Amino acid sequence: MRLIDFGVREDEKKYIEEWSKENNIEVKIVSDLLTPETVQLAKGYDGIVAYQQLPYDEKIFDAMNEYGIHVLSLRNVGVDNVPFAALKKNQIRLTNVPSYSPEAIAEYSVTGLMALLRNLKHMIRKVDQHDFQWAPDIGRELNQLTVGVAGTGRIGRAAIKIYQGFGAKVIAYDKFHNPELEKEGMYVDDLDTLLKESDVVTLHIPSLGKGHTLINSKSIAEMKDNAIVINTARGDLINTKDLYDAVASGKLYGAVLDVYEKEVGVFNSDLSDQEFSDDVLDKVIKSPRFILTPHIAFYTTKAVKNMATVSLNAMVSELNTGTSENEIDLEK
Ligand code: COI
Repeated sequence: MRLIDFGVREDEKKYIEEWSKENNIEVKIVSDLLTPETVQLAKGYDGIVAYQQLPYDEKIFDAMNEYGIHVLSLRNVGVDNVPFAALKKNQIRLTNVPSYSPEAIAEYSVTGLMALLRNLKHMIRKVDQHDFQWAPDIGRELNQLTVGVAGTGRIGRAAIKIYQGFGAKVIAYDKFHNPELEKEGMYVDDLDTLLKESDVVTLHIPSLGKGHTLINSKSIAEMKDNAIVINTARGDLINTKDLYDAVASGKLYGAVLDVYEKEVGVFNSDLSDQEFSDDVLDKVIKSPRFILTPHIAFYTTKAVKNMATVSLNAMVSELNTGTSENEIDLEK
């Protein structure tokens, strides 16, 4: 079996190399993303592993079919940038890594919230200037707040545990109810109720697609005054301009954004010597009431190792047995 792994960052290499040695399977490591041009490097290989934020071009799958490659294994969880129709047309199966570390994302949600509740961004900026005054950066305590968790999959459930550990009241919304959380009476009936009753709303759901947002001027109007939004899920769940305006006007307290609707090509790039043309992002970065980070919630040693190795294990299972526990249902 010969595998090829695209879009590999330096920090992933050692885990792939170790896996290759342990499993005695050749894995060609390629730092380029998977595109209609680079896919030709896969000729002669049995399966393609990849991770990228850019959309996967349909032509990639025509080429894979031509080369007799019928499995694409992703190193991440989100499949929103993969055109399912092109996979189906070319009889290509898709796997992801659904659970590389729910705790990494959940812990980050709380990390961002604590930083915002204690006004750390502003305080650190002041101290950098040798201004050591307390006011106006008085903090708020998490144990006094109601946290609304939107989405109770693995990440949402890991977040709930941590928020409860801090003594917060936790309520949750999901279309599908987890039996344990149901028993605890944690679910509210609808999203509107979650928005109305929460001091903090943390998003743990996939993209809604088709330009649909969950947080926008209409839903923000339903939220409690002074509430906080946390997004470690997908940038397009939020209309960022509406969110910025709500914070600037004082309706909302602030937000923790680890994802952004226009992050592709920006996050994980060094743009320090370039003109910055995204006015909304610029305002968010400058505001002390926004904790903005470049999609780093997942970025831990545990998660990166799991992404590298679980994707390869899924590929081996697909090639040896025709399926794997991480295969995506392309009909959904
Ligand atoms: C995903 O796994 O889909 C993520 O959002 C993390 C990604 C930046 C590797």
